[in-house]
Amino acid sequence: METSQKSVTDIRFVCRGTFVHSTAEEALQILEDALLGVDSKGKIAFIGEGTDLQRLSESFGFSSCAVTQLGQHEFFMPGMIDTHIHAPQYSYTGTALDMPLLQWLNTYTFPVESRFQDLEFAKKVYTQVVKRTLRNGTTTACYFATIHTDASLLLGQIANDFGQRALVGKVCMDRNDSVKHYKESSEESQEETCRFVKELLNKKYPLVKPVVTPRFAPSCTEALLAKLGEMAKNNKLHIQSHISENLEEVEWVKELFPNSESYTDIYHKCNLLTDKTIMAHGCHLSDEELVLFRETGAALSHCPNSNISLCSGVLNVRNVLNHKVKLGLGTDVAGGYSPSILDAVRRALDSSKVLTIQDPEYKTLSFEEVFRLATLGGSQALSLDERTGNFQVGKDFDALRVNVAAPGGPIDLIQNEKPQILLEKFLNLGDDRNIVEVFVAGKKVVPFSEP
Ligand code: GUN
Ligand code: FE
Repeated sequence: METSQKSVTDIRFVCRGTFVHSTAEEALQILEDALLGVDSKGKIAFIGEGTDLQRLSESFGFSSCAVTQLGQHEFFMPGMIDTHIHAPQYSYTGTALDMPLLQWLNTYTFPVESRFQDLEFAKKVYTQVVKRTLRNGTTTACYFATIHTDASLLLGQIANDFGQRALVGKVCMDRNDSVKHYKESSEESQEETCRFVKELLNKKYPLVKPVVTPRFAPSCTEALLAKLGEMAKNNKLHIQSHISENLEEVEWVKELFPNSESYTDIYHKCNLLTDKTIMAHGCHLSDEELVLFRETGAALSHCPNSNISLCSGVLNVRNVLNHKVKLGLGTDVAGGYSPSILDAVRRALDSSKVLTIQDPEYKTLSFEEVFRLATLGGSQALSLDERTGNFQVGKDFDALRVNVAAPGGPIDLIQNEKPQILLEKFLNLGDDRNIVEVFVAGKKVVPFSEP
């Protein structure tokens, strides 16, 4: 049994039943008939055995009648973490999947994103994306917004209002010739990033933080990248961008930055690879580049739906894990058409099987390993693993209450199944109908409270 030293009046609620989560040692740890207490700050105060109820209720001072008992087909799992999602692109998700990356950006993405200086439009889309992702069990999201500072601040406010844990980035791009007005000068980009970070931090939202966001190397000058690296370093900020998503992009980067050894080297030279950096994709990184990720502590976001939908490439996850590079899952809405991390889990498993089809020696990922990527892995990739990612005592209680047999839901149970099978069925077949409650930092955020 694990406990933290808490005063006896501190417990907000206690739940009893099956808990599943990942640890560094075990991709899937199943705790049957467990008892978990959440304190008044939303942190996990203890996790023990259900049969220990009497002793725990005495030492933590809660009434044993006030314990919520999970049903037979229910379990708690850690909230899922979307390490890469473009909030404005939610407005066209599920469409526009007929082009490779660079044409796709020019044809669909930039024209849509340029509309977000309109705060009314931004409010509508950002409210929808925060609600949709929360309902689908995303307790933490790492968002790209657009170049517009005020709309990006609004995204932070909306995430805070609905109680989602979020990193929010105002996008920086001082190079783009495809869509008029959807680019900034280098000075503007730096100044507005400064203002964005300052204003967002001043709000003191407990769960929402800024992230420095150069869009990707081709849309930024080296001078801007260097300034952003400096700003992140001086203020210990998170950093996010894209890297080596598609081969045409990789070739273009070589032309634009002829003096750099590799795509990774460009970011590295500009101080943009730190242990608070998350880079999306990395499908075409060399082993040398992965070593640089490992050495700097920078992480990758695996976005399999997007990689398939835009025909970008297939990330060799096993090789990334063997290099001990931190890795999480991302939806990459709208390059990926689904806003659900459950979809990312399935696409990650499919992609891994494609690699096994191509090379039978390739060791396919197990569903337990991908479950870990969706939860603990994501928290590590975002350097938030001291706060979230699993049910370790002292972390915030970010959790999904899953009912595999939810009435009207997508799963039929034929017989009494063990928790491991229940989790596997949920990951492969489940959807938001099975996610009956969502907690972030101990607060129930789904179902939504009435306004
Ligand atoms: N690279 C630069 N911008 C983007 C974007 O918006 N989506 C994806 N998938 N890749 C990018
Ligand atoms: Fe992206």
